[in-house]
Amino acid sequence: MRSNKKKIVLLIGLVVSAVFLLVSGGCSSGYENASGASPDKKINVDFFLNGKGQPAYKVTFNSKVVIDTSTMGFAFKGQPDLSSNMGIVSVEQSSANEKWAMDWGEQDSVLNNYNELKIGLEEKEEPNRKFNVVFKVYNDGVGFRYEFPKQDNLDSVVIMAENTEFQLTGDHKCWWIPGDWEIYEHLYKTTRLSEIDAIAERGKKLAQTYIPYNAVNTPVTMKTDDGLYLSFHEANLTNYSEMTLLVDTNKLKLTSGLVGSKDESKVKISTPFVTPWRTIQIAEHAGDLIESKMIVNLNEPNVLGDVSWVKPMKYVGIWWEMHLRKSTWDIEEGKVHGATTENAKRYIDFAAKNDIKGFLAEGWNVGWGDDEGPFDFVTPYPDFDLDEVAAYAKSKGIEMIMHHETYAKAANYESHIDSAFSLMDRLGIKAVKTGYVGSVLPEGEYHHGQWMVNHYRRVVQKAAEHHIMVDVHEPIKPTGIRRTYPNMLSREGLRGQEWNAWSSGNPPNHLTIVPFTRMLGGPIDFTPGIFDVTFDFRPKSQVHTTITKQLALFVVIYSPVQMAADLPENYEGHPAFQFIRDVPVDWQETKVLNGEIGEYVTIARKDKHSNNWFLGSITNEEGRTENINLNFLDADKIYRAVIYKDGKDADWDKNPKSYQIETREVTSKDSLEIVLAPGGGAAVSFFAI
Ligand code: NOJ
Ligand code: CA
Repeated sequence: MRSNKKKIVLLIGLVVSAVFLLVSGGCSSGYENASGASPDKKINVDFFLNGKGQPAYKVTFNSKVVIDTSTMGFAFKGQPDLSSNMGIVSVEQSSANEKWAMDWGEQDSVLNNYNELKIGLEEKEEPNRKFNVVFKVYNDGVGFRYEFPKQDNLDSVVIMAENTEFQLTGDHKCWWIPGDWEIYEHLYKTTRLSEIDAIAERGKKLAQTYIPYNAVNTPVTMKTDDGLYLSFHEANLTNYSEMTLLVDTNKLKLTSGLVGSKDESKVKISTPFVTPWRTIQIAEHAGDLIESKMIVNLNEPNVLGDVSWVKPMKYVGIWWEMHLRKSTWDIEEGKVHGATTENAKRYIDFAAKNDIKGFLAEGWNVGWGDDEGPFDFVTPYPDFDLDEVAAYAKSKGIEMIMHHETYAKAANYESHIDSAFSLMDRLGIKAVKTGYVGSVLPEGEYHHGQWMVNHYRRVVQKAAEHHIMVDVHEPIKPTGIRRTYPNMLSREGLRGQEWNAWSSGNPPNHLTIVPFTRMLGGPIDFTPGIFDVTFDFRPKSQVHTTITKQLALFVVIYSPVQMAADLPENYEGHPAFQFIRDVPVDWQETKVLNGEIGEYVTIARKDKHSNNWFLGSITNEEGRTENINLNFLDADKIYRAVIYKDGKDADWDKNPKSYQIETREVTSKDSLEIVLAPGGGAAVSFFAI
């Protein structure tokens, strides 16, 4: 059972006012169309059958078409396509207006307010197959999915294609990554829809990549020439393969392109089943995309009950030093092994001294390198005394985070997972970071296909049985399942900080795109907080931000686990480290104060457990002056604001380490002028006094 506090799920009201129109026997209901509107009436969905009896829909916002006539349909193996010659057999409408409590998150409680439109469809002729299209129309967008009831003429099916169209009404500006079946770690491109060329992204240096068509991955975000923002994604990706979006650059149309297996099939499933929700976020301000909770709302409530064992935390770890090549994951002749008992204790001491709860050690276990065969996830290297390290962490009040790099040998991971999690139970380790670098085994499967979607889910479910929290690298993208499984804490699934260590890096605008794209799916383990941004030992590469932009990321990039990623020696004695000590990871409230995609964004969040607020503001390669109205602060309080900002001469390229710290008293009536350097940022702690 959930705790008492959590039980007070403020149910404002759940209204189910159904208009039923059910006609049995497969004949048409006489209905040729149906429509539904958002609670505030701004968004409207029209559903209809076109001349071929094909299901189609249209979406308007403030009476203007944003998605023009778009059809739907499926291709199955060994049977006719299911798309034309359909009849509407029922139309049901209902609505909900309720609040639910987040176990952890960007805010305490979430409003789930929508109108639902459910259309029953049946083929007019044999084999009379049927399915429903269900729309949920929110004030911030539309979600729809397909429901296939159990039926005699459709049992086990192999889906060869889902053809859900999104017909756009203009050549919108798009922020996109290719529809790679293996990885999301591409740099975002900013182009018009007609200029999207995912094929040109093939062959980039990635551990695994497969881009079969001109498609993009989701969330993909757009801005119309009228200044409206649209973002396309999916919610509750369960027992299905992920949806990329095939791009028709002439017709300005997107069509769902499911990730497949090498046998060309996309999804193997039996009725009854439902597909994931296909989502269209619609917003007048870019920041509203970030504040939207539609994706989590379209997921099922918590099925784990009391999750008081799930604890958001900051962590440090033996990690960045390997990416910098100062030490190694495996034991190699002439190299320094990172995960030694002694080094682990050094990080644990640092964490304990600085109120950082978690500690991660990568490279603790046998199996790294090329020759040593797959990991068993239980055998430590001889210079890493796992029992001793775990006991030492416990004695200092530090939670150890286990590391399971699987090299994408997912079947091998599953065969060892019971013993791996039992070992964690024995040592009292409550969190695991998993990783899936390389090509998937079983052969023929891709990271983003149905088999792997189910694998990632099996791991989350198995972890939940052990009360273990999960942070996945090289994951399947987030689609809001953290609501259902609150132990699914965070994931990478983007070009993270690691790229700054060993590639040409992430350009200054990268992090001003991520909050409006990848972050719309869910939490990101970006691993912020690099202070030594210039790597003096390797002058050619550097992190493309100032130091205070690194601080701002702790607020801008949401994650219930945030790594203070730099080496302890780079934090020791550094005045700006105080912000990392102070900033929480769990929030009562989140407000996006301003933002333009690819340019800048400012986010304020209120600590879950106090009246303190924290603010992060970042910019792309352009410097700018922000005038921030502090009216988000609690009206009745005085705050001590500690402002970490770029130094006067700071610049991500020429002078990235220049910063200033300033303290002053403020209230909600004040405003704050902050100058952001090119590639810079600012972070502010507001302590209620
Ligand atoms: C890639 C992950 O993103 C990174 O965090 C990890 O250190 C390496 N794989 C090794 O597991
Ligand atoms: Ca990675």
